[in-house]
Amino acid sequence: MNNITLAIKDIRKVLEDKISTSKATCDVYGENETYFDHMPPDAVAYPETTVEVSQIVKICAKHDCPIIPWGVGTSLEGHSLAPRGGVTIDLSRMNQVLEIKSEDLLAIVQPGLAREKLNEELRATGLFFPVDPGANASIGGMAATRASGTTAVRYGTMRENVLALEVVLADGSVIRTGSQAKKSSAGYDLTKLFVGSEGTLGIITELTISLKGKPEAVAAGVCEFTSVKAAVNAVISAIQLGIPMARIELIDEVSIRAINAYSKLNYPEKPHLFMEFHGSDIGVKDQSGTMEEIIEEFGGGPFRWSMRPEDQTKLWAARHQAYYATKTLFPGKQGMSTDVCVPISELAKAITDTQHDLEKFNVIGAIIGHVGDGNFHTLMFSDPNDPEDLELNQMIADRMAKRALEVGGTITGEHGIGMGKIKHMAREHGDAMSLMVNLKRSFDPKNIMNPGKMLNIN
Ligand code: LAC
Ligand code: ZN
Repeated sequence: MNNITLAIKDIRKVLEDKISTSKATCDVYGENETYFDHMPPDAVAYPETTVEVSQIVKICAKHDCPIIPWGVGTSLEGHSLAPRGGVTIDLSRMNQVLEIKSEDLLAIVQPGLAREKLNEELRATGLFFPVDPGANASIGGMAATRASGTTAVRYGTMRENVLALEVVLADGSVIRTGSQAKKSSAGYDLTKLFVGSEGTLGIITELTISLKGKPEAVAAGVCEFTSVKAAVNAVISAIQLGIPMARIELIDEVSIRAINAYSKLNYPEKPHLFMEFHGSDIGVKDQSGTMEEIIEEFGGGPFRWSMRPEDQTKLWAARHQAYYATKTLFPGKQGMSTDVCVPISELAKAITDTQHDLEKFNVIGAIIGHVGDGNFHTLMFSDPNDPEDLELNQMIADRMAKRALEVGGTITGEHGIGMGKIKHMAREHGDAMSLMVNLKRSFDPKNIMNPGKMLNIN
């Protein structure tokens, strides 16, 4: 028997029927949202407690068996695939809200809890969890990938909103990081180290997260522009003036066409900004009024404001489905959703350079962006049977990443490294790369924690 088979046998002794080796099940966990090949694990385990996670990891450590943590599987860079086989740990049974401390604006939750479920459970408290990557991802997965999304411009990313963690380390031991205090000067910030570590350092089994008060008033609206550049320049100006936007999203004309067809809407087929303001009644009027003035300066308009919550929900649901909507424009093709983030003053150039690339290389791509953060995506599609098609998409993505670095940006603002962007890590981190490798080795000497992701370890 090989090491993985031995590990599965031992796990079954402890977890009994909470582990499956059925091909149908493993195949589901070998799939991904984008262009990566099918890479199934050898087994999928469904622990219900931290103790069970720890038992699984101890067994895998003994047998040098790869472990792949799994939330919902919505990551876009192949994070949850099993390129070396092993055991996928599906945390969806650990999905409880353990405690809500309204007075302290925080909650303690399990990692498999879905983002939308958390917000449903918070409804009666007047609080909400602000990080919104669009997909109904798990809170643990969002922490592991340092997710963000449409509201980060106002409320921050998972980096700012995770206060404390319980983590099962690569030897199966369980540690706690952080505290419930709003700030701390006590030692290395291990919480922030695990946030964004993509399951390569440990498995998050509990999170203390910060909550926000629901705003008294919300105004959402859309506005069209004659060019993407004009839309982005309006956003740059608004950010530089310090207008506190809760969401500010760029949707280009290809994405608008996709959204219209998919969500049965009829926006004019032009680049749009989708925006939202949070605050008091007067504050929201004031902010949206100033934004209208800025947008008019850049030739944008007319505005269509949605004041009713149901219309706002519809607007953001349409935005959140942009990737799937665009995919349906290209039936039979595989998608790639690439992601970079640049300092805000560089954003218009970064996007127009990408548009020029798409034209030059004759690639149809849709551009959407969390533009208030300087973050945007290009969605591209390729024929799964034509490797050259995928290579072309890769080239556009690579050029975006390189240009982002040249202007002081990053190769990914929110999608992470996974398997897709390992090749750019050294370019971004330079000499700090060896420190990252050393960190990984000291946390996970056997390289069993999500191997083949984020870093190349020999
Ligand atoms: C979005 C995903 C692709 O912004 O990050 O829709
Ligand atoms: Zn995004």
